Amino acid sequence: PHRRPMVSKQRFAADLSRCLYDFVVQLLPTPEELAIKEDVRKLLERLIRTIEPESRLLSFGSTANGFSLRNSDMDLCCLIDSEDRLSATALVNMLGDLFARETKFHIKPLPHARIPIVKLSLDPKPGLPFGIACDIGFENRLALENTRLLMCYAMIDPARVRTMVLFLKVWCKRRKINSPYKGTLSSYGYVLLVIYFLVHVKNPPVLPNLQQMPPLRPISPEETNLNGHNVWFFDDINLLRERWQSSNIESVAELLMDFFRFYAREFLYNVSVVSIRAGLLTKESKGWDNDPDRGTARERNRLCIEDPFETDFNVSRCVTRDGLFTIRGEFMRASKILSTRPERAIVALAQLCE
Ligand code: CTP
Ligand code: MG
Repeated sequence: PHRRPMVSKQRFAADLSRCLYDFVVQLLPTPEELAIKEDVRKLLERLIRTIEPESRLLSFGSTANGFSLRNSDMDLCCLIDSEDRLSATALVNMLGDLFARETKFHIKPLPHARIPIVKLSLDPKPGLPFGIACDIGFENRLALENTRLLMCYAMIDPARVRTMVLFLKVWCKRRKINSPYKGTLSSYGYVLLVIYFLVHVKNPPVLPNLQQMPPLRPISPEETNLNGHNVWFFDDINLLRERWQSSNIESVAELLMDFFRFYAREFLYNVSVVSIRAGLLTKESKGWDNDPDRGTARERNRLCIEDPFETDFNVSRCVTRDGLFTIRGEFMRASKILSTRPERAIVALAQLCE
């Protein structure tokens, strides 16, 4: 019996790219879902303003950065522009009572969490088959900025960047490696891995480094300082679209194959730090390799992903030894499936997300 000849790499990549686009499009939130979520945001903002008239309720996370899938949760951040505002703990308690009185949401105030939040949820019903899950936090201005940064990256090359990121988000959920509470990586962490790969690993790069581009006018450090962090990045998207033309013409499937190969085999997890701000860094240079209090620092830094603005914060500090082992195993599995190039790309896709 003779083996079937392998599909050519070009044909497989072309098929897979088309499958990836089709797959991801089906998973985008519907306009109705987006409208319902915006109504919820407005309703909650109105209620909060009965307590804090100077407040605004803003979306961040996937609902605001262009990487949202159908039924993803809502991340909301409450900003209060007055001097003598209540503490987050007091606000969480008061808003918990207010929402319980005035809305149909299930309410869970967490006033004593490390970051105090109010959790709200709505049961599924016709027209809203998965209900709504929403967290409201306070004054998390850095999260609003990193959301804007990711949104800008998404907008530079939406066809490739959004498709890759959205696919990866589905993939890591289906493969059950997307739970910081269980020792694996947050969605935010996976998005940073993709952006890093497109800015710093691909040559020629698919994306520019928005944090290192020269500003259009001189900017003073005070202007860009937020809680001691430099949050400047080149955010003039219209100008960027005019000026930035990547000479990388790889298809989304080729990029995805290379992404899996890179994180399966090339990236040096023991010594390296992923930084979209500065490129490849070492754990040593950041002091993330030492072992001061009996192993905890090293335990926290198995996988190192530097936050783009809060640069002393390792986004993947929740990833445990076992978690990293599992994640790497999944990168290897994915890489292997794609390198066998099944006759039909759709089969590879189904297998990837099994
Ligand atoms: N965030 C952060 N630091 C982290 C984790 C999250 O600042 N360590 C902020 C980021 O602004 C991120 C947002 O919280 O965009 C939401 O994070 P996450 O839920 O992981 O990402 P989503 O894109 O919202 O993914 P999902 O659709 O799975 O909810
Ligand atoms: Mg989210």
